[in-house]
Amino acid sequence: MDFQQASTYTEPQHLLRDIASRFDRERVAISFSGAEDVVLIDMAHREGLEFNVFSLDTGRLHPETYAYFERVREHYGIAIELLMPSPAAVADLVRAKGLFSFYKDGHGECCAVRKIEPLRRKLGELDAWVTGQRKDQSVTRTDLPLEQEDRAFSTEAHRLLKFNPLADWSSRDVWAYIRTHKVPYNELHDQGYVSIGCQPCTRAVGPHEHERTGRWWWEEATARECGLHAQNVVKILG
Ligand code: ADX
Ligand code: SF4
Repeated sequence: MDFQQASTYTEPQHLLRDIASRFDRERVAISFSGAEDVVLIDMAHREGLEFNVFSLDTGRLHPETYAYFERVREHYGIAIELLMPSPAAVADLVRAKGLFSFYKDGHGECCAVRKIEPLRRKLGELDAWVTGQRKDQSVTRTDLPLEQEDRAFSTEAHRLLKFNPLADWSSRDVWAYIRTHKVPYNELHDQGYVSIGCQPCTRAVGPHEHERTGRWWWEEATARECGLHAQNVVKILG
C-alpha cells in the first residue's frame, strides 16, 4: 500500500466512527451484499465499532453468494440479518408471469417484490443505513455524496439518512484494501464477475468492459438501478 492509498483509507473509518456515535445501535445498519460492503464491515471490526448488518435474500442469489455470506458471518463473528420477500407476493408474480419475466419487461417488477418491499420494511425501523456505493460504479452514481437524505425511502413522518462512506473510492482502492487486509470475498470474483447481484441478472464481464455491464445487461445503462438506490436515477433523469 503506498502512502496516498493509506491516507485515503482513513476517511471512511472516520465517517463510520461518526455514524456509530450519532445513532443508536439498533437504528442504523450496514446493507451488505458484496466487496464494498465487506470492506465497511472489516473497517468497523478493526475500529471496534458494532454495526448491525442486513442483506436482501431475494431467493435468486448464486450459491457462491450464500456461501460467501456464511464465510463473512463466521470470519467476523457477526449476525447477518437476511431479509426475505413476502411469499404471497412472490407467488403472485410467478403465477402471473413466470420466473424470468424481467428479461421480457424489465427488472422493475421483480426487484420491487424481492428487494424493495423487504428493504422498505427494514428501513422503517432505522434512522440511517450505510451502503457500499461508489461514484465510479455507474453513470447513475457520479454525484453520490458521503451522506444524503434518502428521498426514496423517507416519509413525511420518518426521515431516513443514507451514508456512502466509499463514494470517493475506486474499485482499485476496494481491491487493494481487500488484498492488504485479507478480507473474505465472493469466489465469483475469481470467475470474471465484478458487480454481483441476483444470478439470472448478473453475468461475468470482459477485460475492458465496465463492471456495470454485467448487471441487467439487456437494459439501458441509465435503467440499471433496482430501486434500492432509486434516487440516483431521479437525479440523472431530471
Ligand atoms: S444494486 O442496486 O445495483 O443491486 P449494487 O449491487 O451496485 O446495488 O450495490 C450497491 C450497494 O447496495 C451495496 O454496496 C450494498 O450496500 C447495497 N446492496 C446491493 N444489493 C444488496 C443486497 N442484496 N442486500 C443488501 N444490500 C445490497
Ligand atoms: Fe428479480 Fe433480477 Fe431484480 Fe433479482 S435482480 S430481484 S432476480 S429482477
